[in-house]
Amino acid sequence: MNIMRVDAKHGRVDTVATDALVLMFCEGEGLPKDDGAILDAALGGALRELVHTKEFDGKAGEVVLFHTHRKIPAKRLILVGLGKKRELGLDQIRQALGYAVKRVRQTRSGAFTVALPSSIPQGASLVDMGQTMTEGAILGSYQFTTYRSDAPTGRDVTAMTVLTPQKDHLRQLSEGIRRGMATAEATVFVRDLCNHPSNVMTPTRIASEAKIVAKEAGVQLKILEQKEMEKLGMGALLGVAKGSHEPPKFIILQYHGAKNKNDRPVVLVGKTITFDTGGISLKPAENMEQMKADMTGGAEVLATMRAAARLKLPLNLISILPVAENMPGGRAMRPGDVVTTLSGKTVEVQNTDAEGRLILADGLAYATRFKPAALIDIATLTGACVVALGQFAIGMFGTDAALKGTIRDAGLRAGERVWEMPLWEEYFEQLRSDVADMRNIGGRGGGMITAALFLSKFVGDAPWIHLDIASTDWSERERAYIPKGPTGIGTRLLIQFLINRSL
Ligand code: BES
Ligand code: MN
Ligand code: ZN
Repeated sequence: MNIMRVDAKHGRVDTVATDALVLMFCEGEGLPKDDGAILDAALGGALRELVHTKEFDGKAGEVVLFHTHRKIPAKRLILVGLGKKRELGLDQIRQALGYAVKRVRQTRSGAFTVALPSSIPQGASLVDMGQTMTEGAILGSYQFTTYRSDAPTGRDVTAMTVLTPQKDHLRQLSEGIRRGMATAEATVFVRDLCNHPSNVMTPTRIASEAKIVAKEAGVQLKILEQKEMEKLGMGALLGVAKGSHEPPKFIILQYHGAKNKNDRPVVLVGKTITFDTGGISLKPAENMEQMKADMTGGAEVLATMRAAARLKLPLNLISILPVAENMPGGRAMRPGDVVTTLSGKTVEVQNTDAEGRLILADGLAYATRFKPAALIDIATLTGACVVALGQFAIGMFGTDAALKGTIRDAGLRAGERVWEMPLWEEYFEQLRSDVADMRNIGGRGGGMITAALFLSKFVGDAPWIHLDIASTDWSERERAYIPKGPTGIGTRLLIQFLINRSL
């Protein structure tokens, strides 16, 4: 997909020439003010009438389009509701732009202009506004049509201009747009990677995607092949990969943006299972196709690396992707097999479908070698996460209170919220094995927690966060700026965390 161009410009709504001019209004605020009043006058009371007849109320998700018949230079006006003013947050702005851009696409206009709303969410800056408007528009227009011969062509919305009446707004709006382009582009990249089917998006293909990112972004890349993993002793990752004909990969990307190259890095580790059949502990057929997105975590840490380099963030960052396909087969791991992890700890694999924690065990142990200032793993780890949190919260665990706070803040700001779960040692009794140091499943009860606790045994003393995104990685329905299918949720959270850390 070609990414939308976004820029900011100053001028008046009644003089701007555009195919479509988008205006956002809050619910129940009565007759239009500011930009609304200017346009209403220019259009001979048309806006007033719409409000009066309640044909446009400003409810969240409400969209009204009308032609201006050359009364003003903008050909069409698109009114979009923001919902109640006291409930207005950054995510309402994102959503409004998502609705707006879909309506613009229906008009077949390639470009549109959106007026900076006169109501800004409390506490939001112009940078936030530029960023969220850009995110909403780019993410709302996302489509994945690579494999469709009936794909609509030549109708993409390719440009958006944010219009403000004040010239001194431009610098901050542009900075927000720059950030929004980076976060949205990263999310689009993740959605694309996860949408490609697993016969295409193999571990080898992931490695070549990483090579492209490394080259483009100018970051260091190291890819460990099976032989080297054997030498190092990554028995858990190798065990998972055994059932597949696709060779596993272990990918490390390094970006040095800090003034001091020796500053301790932020290290991100993403679960990258290109397809999860469950292995010998085979999954049921229903919805199994969604397991092509079991690489979301890895895609997100790869995309975050690219965004951090593009934004030239002043920090050191390392992204690690343990990559494998989880398949049954003649050489596949059996329930009861014992593997020796990179850390030296042994694991009894009682269920081959609990493979994410196995590849992450080796990924996290490897990560500790970099002495991380913060170690964050992100993974579509457990069905139990979906059961506990539904679709609207990411499961968060961690060992460091300050770090948890900054992740929580980044999630709120990004509209990708996390919810903390307990990481209590009591639960470890569920992971005890009779033959090895631990087993890879925790039995009934607290499945998201026992998975996190398993991971905690491989992070040493690094300040660590685990994010379970099984709840949010796939959407059952299309929303304002979230498509049906792979969502890429978590990407903007990670990038926002890094941006906030850089400020
Ligand atoms: N990739 C799945 C988790 C998952 C489930 C992600 C649904 C997204 C949607 C993971 O590898 C898995 O299979 N987990 C098992 C663990 C169990 C065997 C302890 C699960 O949750 O069923
Ligand atoms: Mn699994
Ligand atoms: Zn999995």
